[in-house]
Order: sequence, then C-alpha cells, then structure tokens
Amino acid sequence: MNTHIIALKSRRIWDSRGRPTIEVEVALVGGAIGRGIAPAGASCGSYEAIELRDGGNAFGGYGVATALANIEREIAPALIGKDALNQSEIDHIMIALDGTPNKSRLGGNAIIATSMAVLNAAANSQHLPLWRYLAGDNPVSLPLPEIQIFGGGAHAGRRIDIQDLLVMPIAATSMDEALAMVAEVYRAAGDLMADAGKRAGVADEGGWWPDFSSNEEALQMLTRSIEKAGYQNGEVMISLDIAASEFGSGGCYRPGLELREYTTAEWIAVLINWIDKYPILSIEDPVAEDDAGGMIDFTEAVGDRVQVIGDDFLVTSATRVRKAVEQGACNAVLIKPNQAGTISETMAAMSAARAAGFSTIVSARSGESEDVMIAHLAVGWNAGQLKVGSFARSERMAKWNELLRIEEALGAKARFAGAGALPIRSR
Ligand code: PGA
Ligand code: ZN
Repeated sequence: MNTHIIALKSRRIWDSRGRPTIEVEVALVGGAIGRGIAPAGASCGSYEAIELRDGGNAFGGYGVATALANIEREIAPALIGKDALNQSEIDHIMIALDGTPNKSRLGGNAIIATSMAVLNAAANSQHLPLWRYLAGDNPVSLPLPEIQIFGGGAHAGRRIDIQDLLVMPIAATSMDEALAMVAEVYRAAGDLMADAGKRAGVADEGGWWPDFSSNEEALQMLTRSIEKAGYQNGEVMISLDIAASEFGSGGCYRPGLELREYTTAEWIAVLINWIDKYPILSIEDPVAEDDAGGMIDFTEAVGDRVQVIGDDFLVTSATRVRKAVEQGACNAVLIKPNQAGTISETMAAMSAARAAGFSTIVSARSGESEDVMIAHLAVGWNAGQLKVGSFARSERMAKWNELLRIEEALGAKARFAGAGALPIRSR
C-alpha cells in the first residue's frame, strides 16, 4: 500500500530559543514524505505531556539524545508498515508503547514530532495541502488571530506579571486585513515605547520588552497603542494571558509587581477592575491551574462578556475540558498539540470543546520553529482562532504568512472567522 510507512528517522534541530528540539521525517511506500517538529513551552501546565530532556550540563540540560534514541529504538520499529492515513491507530500505538499517563517514558516531544510527521506525510500522499486534507468537504474559516504586542511573565524574565498582552482585530473582514491591523498596532506600540524611552528590544515571542513598573502601565500602553494606530469603538480588542500558575497556587497570588498577596477572590476583583477599565475581550488562565473554584467564580462573573480560556488549566485534554464544562469553568480552550502529545488526542480535546459550545484557539508555544503546521490545523479544523506569539521574528511570521497563502488559495470561498469565533457577543 502506497500510504504505508517505509522509513522513519529523527534528528536534533534547534528551536527559536537556540535550544535542541526534535524533527521526525516519515517516508511512505509511494514516495510521499512528511516532517514534524516538536515545539516547547516555558510556562508549562503540570498535566501536560512531558518533554523528555537529557539533563546534565550540555545545552543547559535541554538535550534530546534520549528522546531521539527512543524514536530510533522503539517508535520507528513499531510504526514501520503501518498506514499513515490511519492517524488514530498510529497515535494509539505510541500511547500504548509509552505506557505512562503523561508520555514521560518515550517523551511527549518524541511522540508529538512523530504524530505531526505522519499527518504531514498522509496529506502529501493525497497531494493536498494539510488544511484541505483535514477539512475534507467541511467548511473552513481563516482564524481570528490573537497576537502579542507586549511579552511578559516567563517570556520576559518576569519583568511584569501578565505573560501576554495581545490584540484581537475583531473588526477585520479578512485575514489580510486582520494582519494589516495588527501590524499597525505593533508599530504604534514600538513608537510609543521609543517616545517614552522604554524601547528595549523584544521578549521571547517577539512582543516588545515590557519595561513597565506596573501591570496596569502595560495595559494603559497597549490601549494607547490601539488608539494611536487609529482604531476605536472595539475594532481592536485586548486579550490577556495571565498565566496565573506562574505566581499563584493554593488560593494565594503573589504578583511580583503588586507588592502584596491576594486571595483568589481579591485577585479576581483585580482582573474584573481591569476588564471594566480597558477594552479586554479575552482572558487566559486568570487563576492558577489548581484553582478550579476560582476559575468557576471568574467564569460566572464575566463569562457572558469575556472569553475565559483554559490553557495550563485544561492542557488540551478532552477529559479536563469535559470536567470544566460540568463545573462551569471557562468558556474556551487553548489547543496546543504538544500538551496532548498526539494529533488524535488534540482532535479529541477540540471535539469535546466544540460539543460544549466552548470556543477553540489553536496555539503555538513560546519555543517554536519554522514549521507552519498549526496554521493548517487552525484552518483545517475550523478552530476559529489562532494564537502564535507576536508580529515579529520569522518563526512567528511564518505561520501568519502561511494563512495569507491559504486565504488566497481559497479565493472567493475564503471566510474570516472574526468576532463570530468568540463564545460571547463582542462588547
Ligand atoms: P508557553 O506559553 O508556550 O511558554 O507555555 C504560551 C502560553 O502560555 O500560552
Ligand atoms: Zn497560556
């Protein structure tokens, strides 16, 4: 059979932080090949698939020699001869072979790179772009982007507590227009930082370095940047990733810039005050991953006017999504394939979210590569939204630019998800 795997090899390559990562290349009998590259997080949820790293001194402990050996010795022999069109079978073979709940034995990085490579090979064997292979005859849309203007938290040496200050160009009617709007806001923010004597390069994902003395100063600067770019009346809205597990646990929040401790209820009050003062439409991980009660309270308080996204809290897990739905926590889920560890489990989390009416945001990681697969996943799965760091540095721009090519390929059929992708009516 032409679509059966005939060869599977892996290699060490380097990610956007200059750290080692894994690339897998799969070849099929009929000659199609596919590659997959594992991305890497910095602020990871405790329940994510584990990235297997070598430890020790070399590369700060981030080596991937053990994970590469696992691919060569165990994963490749188990997958040779299997049909690449049967993604679910391939992924379940790897899950069973690993045998742990969090893929810690073979490595989530080894498994996701392989899963992605098989998917690309399958699409190539059908001579289809990945988004089209995934969508089949189902309708697709270009995703509403969430794009970071200021980086913070774990991506900027904890200079400010909020990890991502992003914008959503909800008045756009096409991908092309959406990206042009964000380009203007990004540039305006850079100019305002320069005028204030605060322009100091960029953070991990390409957002401006957050040289601010309070979290609110960052929110004010972002609001001013949107205005300076000429947008008003909710044309461009703010999305925040609080990544609260980085400074809170056990119902106690210690944001480094706020000079005091907060209980969950007090911290939620701070966030609600920001929502009332600034044009905020979306908040990710407002409370810590261990604070289900806080997530329920926050969603109950603002879920009718703000998208409440679970990232560390839901870790792209169908089980955790279903539990959140039952509890009334969150109304949206971040979809990161390497949190789940396989493409099939990622799709299961998407389906669980969709069945409950949650919105879905496909997301890159802070450690990225030139790979553009997530742009195709966002379109092919009709996810509605995509988050890929900022609007600078080519490991980010590669994804945004790929969406422009897909929009062009769709021609008159291209539809931009826009504000309709949100779980709420825009404010
Ligand atoms: P990470 O950050 O890739 O470093 O985990 C992205 C996010 O928290 O959304
Ligand atoms: Zn996050």
